[in-house]
Amino acid sequence: MTDPLALGVLVSGSGSNLQAILDAIAQGRLHAKCKVVISNRPDVQALARAERALVPTQVIDHKRFTTREEFDGELVRSLRAHGVEWVALAGFMRVLTPKFLDAFSDRVINIHPSLLPAFPGVDAQGQAWDYGVRVAGCTVHFVDIGVDSGPIILQKTVPVESLDTKEDLRKRILEQEHLAFVEALELIAQGRVMRQPGLRRVSVTEPGRG
Ligand code: GRF
Repeated sequence: MTDPLALGVLVSGSGSNLQAILDAIAQGRLHAKCKVVISNRPDVQALARAERALVPTQVIDHKRFTTREEFDGELVRSLRAHGVEWVALAGFMRVLTPKFLDAFSDRVINIHPSLLPAFPGVDAQGQAWDYGVRVAGCTVHFVDIGVDSGPIILQKTVPVESLDTKEDLRKRILEQEHLAFVEALELIAQGRVMRQPGLRRVSVTEPGRG
């Protein structure tokens, strides 16, 4: 068995995706170790979830820094100090700079609540509902210097019912986010997610075929 994925998770809010990751690790469904949870905002529920799971936490308040690069530099220092090799953005609401992405090249992944490239940016669920889509979903992707624009690892779909409210849709997507994020991280932990240099397309190999 390979070493567990040395994971750092960046959060900004409720942390339900973080909780899904922590539960999967505790139940042996995700071969990873969460080394640290860092929030850019104090007193968010995600920090309490990490503390309950005995995972080290840190608040690095982006408002304390004059530039995004300085903020990112502090994030990188803390993640490295905790031995992190892969970074998961779980409801993290800050755009990362090339300084951060160069430090964890091709090892930063994000969960976005739409079927990218449709509806990047904030309130993706509301954008999809307003547009009147019949199928919505979520995307786990590598983070690049764009916003929600990196190579896609996996996606999950949900139907949009005629009587759905925006909140109904948001909840249905969030359930799939929790499954998608854990599934993508476990594929990475198994070494089955392959980046092709210069290509957007990400290949996922079958089990047992490294
Ligand atoms: C999720 O829909 C996530 O995709 C978005 O923020 C929502 C809350 O995420 N970025 P979490 O509960 O903080 O993980």
